[in-house]
Amino acid sequence: MINILRRKPADQSPRRLTLNILRHNPADPASVPQLQAYEIEEAEGMTLFIALNEIRATQDPSLQFDFVCRAGICGSCAMLIDGRPSLACRTLTRDLGKSITLAPLPFFELIGDLSVNTGKWMRGTSERLQTWIHNQTPISLNTLEERMEPELAEAIYELDRCIECGCCIAGCGTAQMREKFVGAVGLNKIARFRLDPRDNRSDDDFYELIGDDEGVFGCMSLLGCHDVCPKQLPLQTQIAYLRRKMAVIGFE
Ligand code: SF4
Ligand code: F3S
Ligand code: FES
Repeated sequence: MINILRRKPADQSPRRLTLNILRHNPADPASVPQLQAYEIEEAEGMTLFIALNEIRATQDPSLQFDFVCRAGICGSCAMLIDGRPSLACRTLTRDLGKSITLAPLPFFELIGDLSVNTGKWMRGTSERLQTWIHNQTPISLNTLEERMEPELAEAIYELDRCIECGCCIAGCGTAQMREKFVGAVGLNKIARFRLDPRDNRSDDDFYELIGDDEGVFGCMSLLGCHDVCPKQLPLQTQIAYLRRKMAVIGFE
């Protein structure tokens, strides 16, 4: 409904957009965080990816931001768009007002302007949660992979759709308060490996990884993660289910 209302009629001249971008270079001791305004003319079907590239090409080559796939797959373009964590490459300017404010995702190490180092945090969290298949069964070249029911493969694939964009962490109040909280992205990974029959770890093993305040018991059900996840992962259901399972183990 909102999109339809904001879509301009064919004969109307293009909108002038103002992008207010939070600029800061943490490597420069003289740099002070400040909003810098850039004006551009809106084009048909313009995304924030296109708008930012136009600004960098025609007005300010020093502007830092990240994009790789431009298709909502790599997760590198996540930023705060009018205060909400979102993917810039999947955001159409016509869905926003004429004045747009962009800031880097909070929580992650700032590289500069809109560019943050989500990869460093994601790698550290994956190592900490050991997000790979643990299987002690010896395999040889002749070992055949066991058949998996399509429904189960589908359920694992659903959780594997996470693109590690960091939006859920940026939208989570607990993560802003608890530096080591693994967040929805970490809990979703545990849910994914717990589901996988090729992973031999027991629930006790998973409890060791997330059975504390930095894991599933740190989550205060704020659900910002669920609201902002650009892949619409079922984070609310997964976290609630994991918490129930881990609580049972904690009481045993
Ligand atoms: Fe991004 Fe969703 Fe994965 Fe969080 S769970 S990192 S919001 S895709
Ligand atoms: Fe944070 Fe999501 Fe829990 S927003 S507190 S991880 S429900
Ligand atoms: Fe890859 Fe946006 S550029 S998700």
